[in-house]
Amino acid sequence: MAATRGEFSSRFGFIMAAAGSAVGLGNIWGFPTQAASNGGGAFLLVYLVLAFCLAYPALMAELIIGRHAHSNAVQALQLISRGPISKFIGGATGIAGLIVASFILSFYAIVSGWMMAFCINAALTFLDMGESAAWLVEFSLTRNLIFMCLFMLMTIGIISQGVQGGIERWSGRLMPMLIIMLVILVMYVLTLEGAMEGLKVYLLPDFGRVMSPSLIIAALGSAFFSLSLGVGTMLIYGSYLKDEENLPLVGGYVTLVDIGIAVMAGFLIIPAMYVAQHNGIQIFNEAGALISEDTLIFTVLPNLFNTMGTTGLLVSFAFFFLMTIAAVTSSISMLEVPVAYTIENHGAERQKAVWIIGGVITAISATIIFNFEMLFGLVIELTTRYSQPLLALLLCVFVGWIWNREGLLQELKKGNKDVESTFFWKIWPWYVRLVCPLIIGVIFVNSLWG
Ligand code: PFF
Repeated sequence: MAATRGEFSSRFGFIMAAAGSAVGLGNIWGFPTQAASNGGGAFLLVYLVLAFCLAYPALMAELIIGRHAHSNAVQALQLISRGPISKFIGGATGIAGLIVASFILSFYAIVSGWMMAFCINAALTFLDMGESAAWLVEFSLTRNLIFMCLFMLMTIGIISQGVQGGIERWSGRLMPMLIIMLVILVMYVLTLEGAMEGLKVYLLPDFGRVMSPSLIIAALGSAFFSLSLGVGTMLIYGSYLKDEENLPLVGGYVTLVDIGIAVMAGFLIIPAMYVAQHNGIQIFNEAGALISEDTLIFTVLPNLFNTMGTTGLLVSFAFFFLMTIAAVTSSISMLEVPVAYTIENHGAERQKAVWIIGGVITAISATIIFNFEMLFGLVIELTTRYSQPLLALLLCVFVGWIWNREGLLQELKKGNKDVESTFFWKIWPWYVRLVCPLIIGVIFVNSLWG
């Protein structure tokens, strides 16, 4: 089986793919709005500390299990298990991960469909096709269904081309494009009036809030979602990595790109909000808090673009195109999780597996759309707030307690013979064994209490 498995052809390909998975709606939309409503610079500071000290070690746990086993999460966790009980829990954790990844994709595809619709809206408005353009930005069953299906087709199309021809090729093309567009948008927004006020809010930490538990919980949740942890996406990407790769280094690059883009997105979104305010658009809600989430992306920003005339259409097109790219490089990693399992554990052909699983996820998405009020928020909450941290915790337990230290060391040595003398080896095994499970556990319990 190993001979027919896909593999990333280069370090760059892997970094773009894994960073592509990590960089998504969570970075460009979630992080900046959370920062804006949680003390600006204070949130940024806590996020940076947590991302490096907790999310990076957890990411390393996934990469190392995947690379060691060169197989999907179910087989990989069973491989490092020592007895029948841990083998059973390992298999169950892998299966749970692929189910959660599929459900995350089912809501992610709906939101990503909206991004596509808003992007096309800008193009049609430019072409004077006002009526069709208006339909695209109105919340309707048909629009939601059509664009969710289009987005799923794009995801299925890429994943059906395999690891090198699909994931690596498309991430390698789209990620540099995303970075360039983001930089251009940031530079443009910072030249507008009102932007400097937003910049101040973003960069000046309100130190009184740094130790606030709700801020810390929000920042950690954000970091975990942002690095796609828990559900096996990083594990499966790690399994396509060559043995010669230095894992702590490539994992570090992925974390840096992810954090860098989230921070950069803050330089776009928060100043843009204050530019909107300068142009007479309301950015604080009745409670006095900054408008965030869907209202920000689908009301405040489009209103801002409207005040900017033809340039606004271009900026709007660029912004929603950027969001769509970020979404697609993440969605492909989610679909790869159940697909790889079906290929490796059930001997299915890639094409067949991709279309069947993609079809099932599309059907789940459609069910959510038909029962939007009841299911949309519920699925997001169950998957990202409860399942993801719990699964990430289990993966840390597998690396820290079930797999032996010697096994870990041998795996790391494949890509760096001197790893034993590095700072990483002195700290990391203890981190995944004690610190990560403990802190994730505390956060999980906290989130249960809501
Ligand atoms: N990391 C993605 C984001 O920030 O939008 C979300 C994500 C991707 C979560 C893949 C989970 C996952 F498996």
